[in-house]
Amino acid sequence: MNDVFGPISKDFDDSDSLFCIDLWPFLNTTVLISSPFYAQQAELIVDRPDALLWSMHPVTGGPSLFAANGTQWKDTRNLLLPGFKSNYIKDQIIYATNEVEKLIEILAITAEKKELFQLDPVILKCMMNISGLSTFNKKLLSQTRFDAFTTALRRNMDWHYLGDALSSVARRTPIIGVINKYNSSIINDYLGDILDERYKEWRTGKVTSLPDSQKSTLDLILTDYIAKQKDKTPEVLDAAFKKWAIPQLRVMFFVGHDSGTATLSYTFYLLSKNPSALAKMRAEHVDVFGDNPSRAAEEMRIQPHLFNKIPYTTAVLKEVLRLFPPASGFRAGNAGDYLVDKNTGVRYPVAGTNIWILHSVLHKNPRYWKDASKFIPERFLVGNDDPLYPVKGAWRPFEHGPRDCIGQALVMTTMKVSLAMLARSFDVMPAYEEWDRLHGISPQKLYDGERAYLSGQSGAHPADGMPCRVSFRK
Ligand code: HEM
Repeated sequence: MNDVFGPISKDFDDSDSLFCIDLWPFLNTTVLISSPFYAQQAELIVDRPDALLWSMHPVTGGPSLFAANGTQWKDTRNLLLPGFKSNYIKDQIIYATNEVEKLIEILAITAEKKELFQLDPVILKCMMNISGLSTFNKKLLSQTRFDAFTTALRRNMDWHYLGDALSSVARRTPIIGVINKYNSSIINDYLGDILDERYKEWRTGKVTSLPDSQKSTLDLILTDYIAKQKDKTPEVLDAAFKKWAIPQLRVMFFVGHDSGTATLSYTFYLLSKNPSALAKMRAEHVDVFGDNPSRAAEEMRIQPHLFNKIPYTTAVLKEVLRLFPPASGFRAGNAGDYLVDKNTGVRYPVAGTNIWILHSVLHKNPRYWKDASKFIPERFLVGNDDPLYPVKGAWRPFEHGPRDCIGQALVMTTMKVSLAMLARSFDVMPAYEEWDRLHGISPQKLYDGERAYLSGQSGAHPADGMPCRVSFRK
């Protein structure tokens, strides 16, 4: 949809790219934003549109924090927030290094075989395993063997969103509903069992206490449930609680791995095209973690605070998130919500509309970004007197305001761990031309002149999974 609305927004220069479109009967009237000025107003609107509930259904299977409104949203967000504090993130670094070590082994085999492969699904499995631990304390093995739970979840999404190939009418065919139900039952059974198992551990005193900062999403949810039972903790979890808890675990597992995966894939893509940035980033890793890549993981485990000392790597990731933002901002306007024109003071009522902040358009809006289409990590390091310095509110891959991304610090750290461990060992070369030749894909399959365009609807990923070749760094 970004690819449709992006070009349209260019026709509304006078209104600072603000426009609205009547999408009846598919969606409510939708207000499209790609200027920082209006985005900063929209970020204060708290509610999500009902349409998000349907669109997230293959991921969540029911109402979740992501799509909830009112006290349901507020209470769940407050409940889960402690899981994203710095102490918890520090603990996650150890687990992330373990998983990235496995990813290194997998990439080494691919490098030896000199294989053409899709990078994004390989990184995805690593990120799913990391997310499994932070969401429900499980060491998933999806990097090394078939895993029914993760396969069902990803298949559910593949069938629902159908890449960029089929229309929204095809998505509504009954067979997709059946596939969805089947996969959902695998996912729900798996998570239901995990909930029961962990509940038993808490109830029988196998786990007696954990500070909030060390609790996974699952533990936060369960301890809150136990606290609310007062003196009489039931033998088994009640069905209504499980029905509420499973969608929360599903959504947190999904957001915990999906967008971070796409961002890492794009980081390798952009660095392969910008060798001087890659060299600078690698030099920073040598300075901070030492010159022996195989010792780097140990260094990270012992001194996790070192991740606060790699500003160039942080700037690289920010620039990747600017050019290829995998998400967007979604809000629902209510009575009393307005967007105000800064020049005329006119107040546009947005009650009953869906509001969509188009990150991929805003992040490249030439009115607000100098050399908008160029990869320049330095723009996040220069002082505010430099023309490259980002305009306030123009960089918003995690959104801002009360509904911003609660996982942003966690995912930035996980991505830094991955880069610091992988980038020094491997050269990654995108291989779209070869892929297209082998698969009979037209060289014209471009969006905005870009073959690795963002594709998919719920958490965008690089087109065709980013075909690559990987080699050991010379
Ligand atoms: C590069 C990775 C990520 C990106 C780009 C990203 C982006 C976003 C964006 C744009 C939103 C807000 C949407 C809106 O305002 O309408 C959001 C919300 C959210 N994100 Fe992330 N996210 C990422 C990773 C994560 C991770 C790792 C987690 C958790 C483990 C997470 C958890 C959430 C949650 C729970 C919300 C909903 C918050 C609410 O509705 O109150 N995200 N994310």
